[in-house]
Amino acid sequence: MGALRRVIEPTANKSVLDLGFVRAARVADGAAWIDYELPEQLVGSPVEQELRLRTNAALHMTAGVERVEIRVAARPGRVTNTLPGVQNVIAVGAGKGGVGKSTLSVLLALGLKRRGLRTGLLDADVYGPSLPKLTGTEAAQAEGTADGRILPPESDDGLKVMSMGYLVPANEVVVWRGPMAQKYVKEFLDRGAWGELDHLIVDLPPGTGDIPLTLSQSIPLTGAVVVCTPQDVALLDALKAYRMYRKLNVPVLGFVENMSYYLNPATGAREYIFGNGGVERAARANDVPYLGGLPLHQLIRESGDAGSPKDCFTHAPAHVTEALDQIVTNLLEQVRLRRAEATPLPQLRIR
Ligand SMILES: Nc1ncnc2c1ncn2[C@@H]1O[C@H](COP(=O)(O)OP(=O)(O)O)[C@@H](O)[C@H]1O
Ligand SMILES: [Mg+2]
Repeated sequence: MGALRRVIEPTANKSVLDLGFVRAARVADGAAWIDYELPEQLVGSPVEQELRLRTNAALHMTAGVERVEIRVAARPGRVTNTLPGVQNVIAVGAGKGGVGKSTLSVLLALGLKRRGLRTGLLDADVYGPSLPKLTGTEAAQAEGTADGRILPPESDDGLKVMSMGYLVPANEVVVWRGPMAQKYVKEFLDRGAWGELDHLIVDLPPGTGDIPLTLSQSIPLTGAVVVCTPQDVALLDALKAYRMYRKLNVPVLGFVENMSYYLNPATGAREYIFGNGGVERAARANDVPYLGGLPLHQLIRESGDAGSPKDCFTHAPAHVTEALDQIVTNLLEQVRLRRAEATPLPQLRIR
């Protein structure tokens, strides 16, 4: 421990112990094994090389150590602030396409915006970028700034939106492989002139394939929201997505049930077209917060097609606006809780 305390990370000028980089350390039979967990951006960087050298040097000076083995892993998605000015990055994911992930991304963003929070939207759904249409910004273009950054267009509602859709004509097909998709999303994150944002909502591609996986790893996420419809098949896929986030150490902020029910205007009765309460039960069974359910309503579809999401807040019946309000409130509460516990504590296991 004394030797590790003398290993100083050159950029932060603090010891690897104080920075919480040491996941495990063991000395036996003349050998020392050190397991480091470094922030993603340091892995493979000159800083890692320097740390290896310094660790070797410090440990070789320790009595009884003749051999040093260093292993380096990337620290899984904790809240690391690689996006200056952006407080929270919230991914919206789903196990399946067509469950309303993009619609919900936009409605969540607008719900936050309407509470006076500065909000942006990033379209990471490379298979079907739909945020330009849903936010009524199809005609917009992403302009470059003098310092080589990309200015996200702003919707009428004041949401900053970035999407591949602004760069590729809507009728053209882009074939993305995982690394390419990851690269473009990283570009939009790192070079996007987002300014000061309280929340950046990221519409992730559905499923647990290569692309959502790499993206969830490469974006510094506060957490993920999993959207699901109540049917069993959709639920099974949502649980797979949930397990993927868990494996990647992305905190799951909660489940949202979309198309929860239809309020029959003639009878006033709730009709559970896709099943009743399944997502909430699955959330409880897995100890995940349930953020709420959004009913099926024609206005939600129409306002999406018209690129006018604010209609869902201003012209929708009470059962829709109240549901949205509840989901936004619960999401903010989960973000607050997550931030309160997100200070990474140095973890040291000595065997
Ligand atoms: N609660 C809802 N009520 C009515 N239509 C909805 C609702 N949620 C989504 N839709 C519609 O369902 C379709 C698919 O939604 P979308 O958000 O594009 O799904 P995804 O991004 O998961 O593929 C869209 O036409 C959208 O307007
Ligand atoms: Mg979508």
